[in-house]
Amino acid sequence: MENMAGNFILVGLMGSGKTTLGRRLAEHYQRPFHDSDHVIVQRSGVSISEIFAVEGEDGFRAREGAVIAELCSLKGIVLATGGGAVLSEDNRNALRRSGLVVYLHVLPEVLFKRVRGDRSRPLLQVEDPLARFRQLYAERDGLYRETAHLVLEVGVVSGRHALRQLIELIRQHSEN
Ligand code: S3P
Repeated sequence: MENMAGNFILVGLMGSGKTTLGRRLAEHYQRPFHDSDHVIVQRSGVSISEIFAVEGEDGFRAREGAVIAELCSLKGIVLATGGGAVLSEDNRNALRRSGLVVYLHVLPEVLFKRVRGDRSRPLLQVEDPLARFRQLYAERDGLYRETAHLVLEVGVVSGRHALRQLIELIRQHSEN
């Protein structure tokens, strides 16, 4: 299979299922799974909310860039990225070079329903999280598409069904 030597990388907005689907994909292909947010939290010893509170978003993005560069140098892994990883051009280039990038496309209204009440994501601690999702979608949809080789339309129902769709998408891509 064409891309088996490279990595599988998932990008998309918060709540699009990168971590859950990434874990399942890694299990399916029996590859190590990495999540850039988890690595940032492990290294710093504090939560993402605390990093945002103390160092601001810029501080978090600097940590994120270093972790993405490091994870992109690994081979044969599945990588779930934080929703804002594509904001940096360096990250976008590193991700694309390191393997097959898949954008998990979910509409803002669906994302809002999925993560309603979430306290762990600092960008959603606003009065109107739906408006925030719409804004992030407007800003980032183009960046995800620019970074990704493939787009997976994730509907309202995901889970096992999304995994099957993703595997099929990768299979079709590798045949071309
Ligand atoms: C962010 C998404 C989060 C995390 C941080 C910022 C973003 O990751 O990196 O809260 O800018 O969209 P998830 O997409 O895994 O929630």
